[in-house]
Amino acid sequence: MQPTPAVRCRGLAKTYGRGDTATPALRALDLDVRAGELTLLVGPSGCGKSTLLSIIAGLLTPDGGSCEVLGQSLSGRPEVERAAFRRDHVGFVFQGFNLLPSLTAAQNVAVALMLQGVHERVAVARARVVLGQVGLADRGDAYPMTLSGGQQQRVAIARALVHSPALVVCDEPTSALDHATGQSVMRQLREVARDASRALLVVTHDPRIHDYADRIVEMDDGHVIDDRAGPARDST
Ligand SMILES: Nc1ncnc2c1ncn2[C@@H]1O[C@H](COP(=O)(O)OP(=O)(O)OP(=O)(O)O)[C@@H](O)[C@H]1O
Ligand SMILES: [Mg+2]
Repeated sequence: MQPTPAVRCRGLAKTYGRGDTATPALRALDLDVRAGELTLLVGPSGCGKSTLLSIIAGLLTPDGGSCEVLGQSLSGRPEVERAAFRRDHVGFVFQGFNLLPSLTAAQNVAVALMLQGVHERVAVARARVVLGQVGLADRGDAYPMTLSGGQQQRVAIARALVHSPALVVCDEPTSALDHATGQSVMRQLREVARDASRALLVVTHDPRIHDYADRIVEMDDGHVIDDRAGPARDST
């Protein structure tokens, strides 16, 4: 028997706005994301990928259907509970990185741990280790404004991984990275997904990273149109 998936969406629906300006983003979407796998989510611009990630992370409430994450349904729960759930269980790499401009790279990463009550000194030390893993060992004291787009993106990835969340969702994590850096970040993300208790869901337009996928889920027009095994499925 299959274990309960890390993410289970059924009949998920979301429309932005209403009346003449209503824009349906998700229509009766079904999706399972399993722990121990790196699942790539692909599909044309505007098909609803970022909307889906926001609902899974509890940042956005669906209009209909259900979304269970790690066995819990977040919709309808107060924001303070959803925020606590994200803090403890979810790492999120946003399409626009969303780094805090007044904090250094190391502080941006450390925040994810400090929110869990880890002392600043310990959190910053741990943040520097994870920054080193994404090739930014020497940029911990730099402010986001002084980093390149690709470096900012790697800070965002370090921030999503630093507290070892059970679910990591990434919105185009290699969009600003050159080929070699993108491959190295994907190798690291796949390593994370090799841990049987952790699930990774990665939105991408980048065909160069398909090799890292255990599964490839294809969306169009607000729902899943294909769900297949990826090239990395049985490799080590
Ligand atoms: N805040 C918003 N208000 C109104 N419409 C929105 C909003 N966010 C997204 N949409 C619309 O919802 C649909 C899905 O958008 P979404 O951002 O989820 O797509 P996407 O698949 O992530 O696209 P991309 O690949 O370009 O990032 C699009 O038609 C978009 O215009
Ligand atoms: Mg998007």
